[in-house]
Amino acid sequence: MADVLILDKIRKSYNVGLPNETEILHGIDLTVAAGEFLAIMGPSGSGKSTLLNIIGLLDRPTSGRLTIAGEDTSGLDDEAITRLRGRTIGFVFQYHHLISAFTARENVMMPMLVDHGRPTPEMASRADELLARVGLERWRDNPASAMSGGQQQRVAIARALAMRPDLVLADEPTGNLDTASANEAFQLLRRINREEGATFLIVTHNLDLAHQCDRIIRIVDGRIPTGDA
Ligand SMILES: Nc1ncnc2c1ncn2[C@@H]1O[C@H](COP(=O)(O)OP(=O)(O)O)[C@@H](O)[C@H]1O
Ligand SMILES: [Mg+2]
Repeated sequence: MADVLILDKIRKSYNVGLPNETEILHGIDLTVAAGEFLAIMGPSGSGKSTLLNIIGLLDRPTSGRLTIAGEDTSGLDDEAITRLRGRTIGFVFQYHHLISAFTARENVMMPMLVDHGRPTPEMASRADELLARVGLERWRDNPASAMSGGQQQRVAIARALAMRPDLVLADEPTGNLDTASANEAFQLLRRINREEGATFLIVTHNLDLAHQCDRIIRIVDGRIPTGDA
């Protein structure tokens, strides 16, 4: 199967050129095949979120090459990066970042609106289809603020899938949920991976959940220890 993601000697420093310049990622090599469901584990402060932000095109590496869905991102300008991000990557964060006054359906429509510029009937029906997939069809007209934490995270998962991304990045998606809701959200991600073939990278501290992934990548002090990738 084709590789959806190739990281070649990715380095990231913060505060470049300043006295407090610090290198956080020290040359990460990682190849992920289309359809893989990967756990990323590592101590707090080891660079997991920094890495996910780079893979998600929210931040640029200081050096190294990042190839996503066959596209080498190093030569792309900001506009091309934004377009590539919108069409190929879905995000699920620890805190769902829903717009609380918007309904579930409006929240799921948001990435499509940002891409297209104005709402269409197709967007609403895509949103409804996704809400049905995450078991929330009867909640679609409820404001996000009226939903439980587990439900809100399922809306966030539906939103992440809105643009049919090749790659879904989840940074501690169950970290803020009780055990039952965490399991439910995780099994939902796993099912969508199996049904749609989208690739998933999931940062988690939960060893039980990590062991249900295809592969576990460990990050320690900004490096993947030899043998992991
Ligand atoms: N914008 C930033 N500026 C400076 N240092 C940062 C910034 N973001 C993260 N760091 C530092 O980078 C290190 C890794 O952080 P992070 O990637 O958030 O780790 P993790 O997600 O594994 O807990 C930490 O030491 C953190 O303080
Ligand atoms: Mg983090």
